[in-house]
Amino acid sequence: MSRVGYIDPNVIMETRNLKVYFVKGGFLAKKQVTKAVDDVDVKIKKGEVLALVGESGSGKTTLGRTMIGLQRITSGQVIYNRDGSPIIIDAKSKVPKHIRRELQMIYQDPYSSIDPYMKVYDALSMPLKYAGFSKKEMQSKIEDSLTMVGLPLDILPNYVFQLSGGQRQRLNIARAISLDPKFLVADEVVTMLDASLKGEIVELFKDINRKTGISMLFITHELPIAKLVAERMLVMYRGKIVEAGSINAVLKDPLHPYTKALIQAYPKISPETKDVIKRIDVKEAEAAQIESKGCPFYHRCPYASERCLHEMPKLKKVASDHEVACYLY
Ligand SMILES: Nc1ncnc2c1ncn2[C@@H]1O[C@H](COP(=O)(O)OP(=O)(O)O)[C@@H](O)[C@H]1O
Ligand SMILES: [Mg+2]
Repeated sequence: MSRVGYIDPNVIMETRNLKVYFVKGGFLAKKQVTKAVDDVDVKIKKGEVLALVGESGSGKTTLGRTMIGLQRITSGQVIYNRDGSPIIIDAKSKVPKHIRRELQMIYQDPYSSIDPYMKVYDALSMPLKYAGFSKKEMQSKIEDSLTMVGLPLDILPNYVFQLSGGQRQRLNIARAISLDPKFLVADEVVTMLDASLKGEIVELFKDINRKTGISMLFITHELPIAKLVAERMLVMYRGKIVEAGSINAVLKDPLHPYTKALIQAYPKISPETKDVIKRIDVKEAEAAQIESKGCPFYHRCPYASERCLHEMPKLKKVASDHEVACYLY
């Protein structure tokens, strides 16, 4: 186990200088590196729901998967602070098997997460069986988790394909919480749902958080959803956390030019920002990022200076509940 310094007892999940790089090619083909997570320091407090926002390809899913031990770390650490006896995961170590069920993830697509030809009972009992629960324990966990997500017990003999989209996502959630996780990554869990269902499922996550105290990383590319579910948020762009703080501070007074651009996409929560964000080809930006040690937003930023290209600014505290990684501040 690697040595770490001080671990805040109020923090359940922390990353330190975390890097997750994907390498393609090599030998004959030119080597290409994607910096999916690039030097990320994040702290999630016990009992907190923290929102992680950013457009597609920012590294949100990779960060979530790495926190729960599903993705190999390139360098840096993930610290899961489990009841005062922290588990430290780095490039050389894995989450111990008996800890795995405490760290759960729910994905966006309720249709591909569970085999539709399975009975609801089997879908729920399988992970519990695998985790080593007795039959009696299984039964009470299945009933408790169904009740928690608002599904009736009489759907247990039904096939998964007989459920509606909303019911399937509730089943997905029941499956994850039946294992008594302490930390949960919810990855775009309302993205595929109809607008009318989104609010309901967000409320369900808040309810679960209130009743069980499970800490959550709630990933979404939809800012209004982040505002509904969390009190604090992180903004991620191409592997970097560019802004962090209370939802109110970040949405009312966005500082990073990328956050401003993201907020402009939502007229209802958008403050007046007149910056013109350069539109450039995604491939071009990716290619540029590989070469650069600087800010990944450089190529789209209306305020970019020479310095931004060569050196990524660190997150800087601008108020007690607001941090930004930009030389403008
Ligand atoms: N298993 C993988 N192999 C290679 N590249 C990957 C893999 N997973 C993710 N990536 C790349 O890492 C970057 C971040 O992806 P992802 O974490 O899925 O972002 P997000 O969830 O924000 O859309 C993307 O460029 C993606 O193509
Ligand atoms: Mg994703």
